[in-house]
Amino acid sequence: MIATPEINIIRSTQTKLNEIDLTNIPFGKYFSDHMLEVDYADGEWKQPVIKPYQHLSLAPSLAALHYGQAIFEGIKAYKNAAGEAFMFRPLDNFKRFNVSAERMQMPQVPEAIFMEGMRMLVELDKAWIPEQEDHALYIRPFMFSSDEMIGVRPSEQYKFMILLSPTGPYYSAPMRIYVEEKYVRAVPGGVGYAKAAGNYGAAMYATAEAKKIGYDQVLWTDAFEHKYVQECGTMNVFFIIGNHAITPELDAGTILAGVTRQSTITLLQEMGFIVEERPLSIDDIISAHKAGLLYEVFGTGTAATISLIRELRYKDYVMDFDVDKWQVAPAIKTRLNAIRYGQVADPHGWMYRV
Ligand code: COI
Repeated sequence: MIATPEINIIRSTQTKLNEIDLTNIPFGKYFSDHMLEVDYADGEWKQPVIKPYQHLSLAPSLAALHYGQAIFEGIKAYKNAAGEAFMFRPLDNFKRFNVSAERMQMPQVPEAIFMEGMRMLVELDKAWIPEQEDHALYIRPFMFSSDEMIGVRPSEQYKFMILLSPTGPYYSAPMRIYVEEKYVRAVPGGVGYAKAAGNYGAAMYATAEAKKIGYDQVLWTDAFEHKYVQECGTMNVFFIIGNHAITPELDAGTILAGVTRQSTITLLQEMGFIVEERPLSIDDIISAHKAGLLYEVFGTGTAATISLIRELRYKDYVMDFDVDKWQVAPAIKTRLNAIRYGQVADPHGWMYRV
């Protein structure tokens, strides 16, 4: 294993930046001029290289395409008013990446490759960081098995890569959410806590069914009783009930330990909320709504940041919210943005200089 790898840079001779309007960018559609690529073989990571963004040439027998040994992360980079670039809590994503790798029987990616490779890549393509509010450079590290072999076993070869994609808000408008009771995202003992590619593919059918009846996403419930809420679409979820902020606990291994989730918990505590990470049933949510105590419901995620939920439907019971009157989620979003864009002090050391 290489301790401190030299990361080679092959620069692009031209930029695609002038072809893109950075003030109007759909999530995940455009990629910056460079990417990082490194291979794992013979039990060690080889020389990482940052090179022009380009297609890969892969064998149709590539193991990842057949059995889904594939994981990813999502991180954002921002620019402050002085034009300096920072990443939001990237070490937390690095650690979670290796938790996902372990669960999927993949090799650990060394910190020197993940962190320094990402830093160098963002530095090189810093001009791709959009400047306006709610925009950022989305960083997508990912790893997949690359044996050319369709036997069902952990691969011996892997590819780790990082892409950069300038992005605006993921969910631009407040959302309508359908509480899912038929399909499940995660079970205890499963891979719900890992950022495994298959978790997202497996969610698409239920999401498409909810979309057919006018909903944006589903709120997943537990697999045994369909009673306890889990995640919402690609986000963690928070409920403001009275002066308590409640979010599902991580202990069952069915929920992704979101970095924005953890940051939101910290900010809610600073705002004086009693934050509870615990099982929360849909019955309790409905009782709170009937009692007039369910004030706000919102999702948190790297891509989504803070997304307001304007309607929650469970069977025929519809909870409608007047999001324009909300105080809490907008305050969290404003505070997070202020820290991210360097407009206020960063008391928790969340911003990582590029
Ligand atoms: C992220 O917030 O980074 C996510 O993982 C959501 C993504 C799948 C769009």
